[in-house]
Formats: sequence, structure tokens, C-alpha cells
Amino acid sequence: MTKLNTPILSGLMKLKDSDKIRFHMPGHKGHAVELYKPIIDNLLQLDFTEIDGTDNLYNTNGIIEESLKLLTKERGSKKSFYLTNGTTVGILAGIMALTKHKDKVLIARNCHKSVYNAIELNELVPIILEHESTDTGLEIPIAEEDFLKVLKKDRDIKMVILSRPNYFGLSRDIRELAKYCRENDVYLFVDEAHGSHLKYHEDLTINAMELGASLSVNSFHKTLPALTQTSVINFGHHMSDEDIARVLSMIEKLQTSSPSYIFMMSLELASAYMAEHGEERFEKLKSYVDNFYKSIEDLDFVFYPSFKKELEQDFSRIILQTTSPSIYLRHHLERHGIFIEMITKNIMVLITSPMDREEDFKALSKAIMSFNINDYKDFVTHEDIDSVSEDNRVSLRNSEGRKLKENIIIYPPGNIYLKKGDVIKSEDISYLMDLFENGVKVFTDFSKDLNNLYVE
Ligand SMILES: Cc1ncc(COP(=O)(O)O)c(C=O)c1O
Repeated sequence: MTKLNTPILSGLMKLKDSDKIRFHMPGHKGHAVELYKPIIDNLLQLDFTEIDGTDNLYNTNGIIEESLKLLTKERGSKKSFYLTNGTTVGILAGIMALTKHKDKVLIARNCHKSVYNAIELNELVPIILEHESTDTGLEIPIAEEDFLKVLKKDRDIKMVILSRPNYFGLSRDIRELAKYCRENDVYLFVDEAHGSHLKYHEDLTINAMELGASLSVNSFHKTLPALTQTSVINFGHHMSDEDIARVLSMIEKLQTSSPSYIFMMSLELASAYMAEHGEERFEKLKSYVDNFYKSIEDLDFVFYPSFKKELEQDFSRIILQTTSPSIYLRHHLERHGIFIEMITKNIMVLITSPMDREEDFKALSKAIMSFNINDYKDFVTHEDIDSVSEDNRVSLRNSEGRKLKENIIIYPPGNIYLKKGDVIKSEDISYLMDLFENGVKVFTDFSKDLNNLYVE
């Protein structure tokens, strides 16, 4: 066959050879080949549509029904359901199905953009609680008392939405909040995108279903051996059948009408694998992570940050604080074939999973130990932002006092920093410019360009 013109395929084929060790999602880490062998060997033959014998995700009575029962048991929910369009669709569907036009919802500022999108689509009234951030960019989860204070004052709030754990693997207790919500007919929606794995080790925080949340969503692809875009939604035991049906029907409206069997099999495989090997794999992972932290204990340019004692930190999410901008160390690791999930100005986030191998952690500590900041003096961290200015378009630098017509998003994780309608303050400009100049990706959802923000 003549060589086809396939830039994505060619690009990824090249990348896969340099990206040797992955401390980023997806959680299969590119090498869960044995687990995926039946799918890999029969990829096209298994890529079915809804015919006799394949069941139908939106009207189950066969193999998918059976698979969902196993999933529900494993998740410890009243019902769990496969999402083949990621956690994003679960968040949109959960919020849009259980709220009505102009309902009030209470959210944490650093919610994922899908939460803000659901609010916009259903024309809800958000009450936004601000979270604390350290000066290195670590986001501190909001305490449940702060949610409770607002809820007790405003009895019209219909739903509370929060991310737990957050991108940095940080969680706080939400038992009292869950209890209050159950007793007062408020939905508690926990975005547990980063917590699919919580139940597999006693040192990990308790998951949302066990804590009594109304619903939760898990991105299996982030921390379990599952393909990108695969997630599940879980309903708490106190949720009514009618509410569950309403959300499932909304998923059917928002999600593809041809849910991928490859994705469903991936979700099923990941769940079955974790049921069988989850605890043993997480015990191993913990020892690898502990040994890794010990190995870099004496270095003075990188360290494990200290957290307030009321915060629980997921040991499987490696957090490193760097004394120089993290982008230098990230670049150094990439030169050694090690790719990580994300950086803020002085924090690096590495995602580990049950598929990581001991040698990956050894390679990571070896690469960190060989870092010398002097090798990176000439490294360019960013392209400059020009000072463009038109009536309704301004560059971030010139945007003080202007009202945004679009969201500004820090990516990853895809959290909204400023939302449509916010007036840009000089401290916002300094904060965002500082991130940008230190190699952190700052996106806009409309213009896609910090040079040309849409403003009123
Ligand atoms: C906190 C949080 N919620 C939701 C999502 C969306 O998840 P998905 O990529 O599975 O749609 C993300 C993605 O990064 C996230 O970080």
C-alpha cells in the first residue's frame, strides 16, 4: 500500500518512541498489553454496533446489563453506568437532569469547565466559593463547614458540586456535608474524576459513594488501566429511581448514540482487573512511591511540600515542589524520556497508576538526581504575548477592568480561573502572566488566544 498522509498517526508514532515512561494519564500507561491482549488482537472484529447479541447501552437486557451489575457491585453504588464520552458528559448530564432553569447551585471556584458549561446550558444561578491556593499554585480544597454555612443560610440551593480529590490529590472530609444534603433534599454531586481508585488502599481517602454523596463520576482513564474517554457515573443508595432514570435519560441525549464497545470493554476490563488485583497493585504502588520520595530526600532543589493536617493526600498522586520554575525540571525529565502530567509555577504533578513498574520510579529518581539548573539557563519558557488592542479584543496584558466574554482556563486540569462576565483585575493579570511566563498552559475557550481575548 502507498504511504498514506496521516499526520496524527505519524506524530503519535514518533512520540511513542520518545515518551518512554509515562507519569501522566491514561492509567494503562501504554503498556497494559497483557490485560488488553484480547481486545488488541481482535480490535476490528470486536468493534460492534447494536445487533442481536451485543445488547444496547441505552436499553440493556443482555451482556451490557450483566456487566453493569458487576460494575455497580464493584463501585458500591445503587447503580453505576458506563460513560463513553468521559466524565465531562456525566457532569453535564447529572447537573442538567437534576436542576431546572434558574435553580441555584453551590460550587467551588476550581470546578472543571464542564460544571460551568452545565450551568450555562441550564441557565442556573451559581454561588461560587473561593478556594485557597498556596503561592506555588497548590489548590486547597474548601472545608465542608464553608459549604454548610452557605447552605444553611440559603435554603433555595438545589445542588452542591465539588471536585474530590482535586488535581493535586487533595481531599477533605465531607461526611457532615453529605449528611446535611441527604436530610435537606440537596443533591451532592462529587466530581471524583481523579478518584476512581480510592477504594483499593486503606491509606486512600474514603470515596464519595461510601461517604453518602448523591452522585459521583469517575474518570477510569485517569488512574485505572482504561482507555482515554472512559468514565462511569455512580448513584448513591438514597437516590430515587426516578432521579436515576432522569440522569440516564439525559446521558442518552448528550452522549453519542453509538457508544463504543471498545470503550465499554475497556471499562469492564479495568473494573474486573481492579476487583481481582486492585489491593495488591496499590500496596506495591505505595512502596514504589515511598521509596521514590526517600531517594530524593536529600536534594535541595525539589521536595515534597507540606500540607495542612486536615488535608488527606492521595499517595498515588506525586506532588513535587521545585525551587526554580518547574518547567526546567519537566524539560529535563523529557530529555530522559519521562513525561509528566502537569506543572504549575513551582509544582509538578505526576499521575501514577497500578500499571506503573518499579523501574519507572527508579528511572525517575535517577533523572531528577542528574538535574542541574545551569544546563537550562537559555531555555525559552514561553512565546511573548503582544500588546494587541481592538474594541472588543485585548491582549491579557491590556485587559485590566474589561469584562470577559469568554472563560480563561488553566490546562491541565481544565479549571476555570476567570469566567465569562468576570471583570479582569490587575492581580489576575499578574497571576496569569506569571503562570504563562513559567510555561503553564493558560487557555481561553473562544478566541483560544491570550493575545486576543474577547471582552465587552
Ligand atoms: C476535576 C475534573 N473533572 C472532570 C474532568 C473531565 O474528565 P474527562 O476527561 O473524563 O471528561 C477532568 C479532566 O481533567 C477533571 O480534572
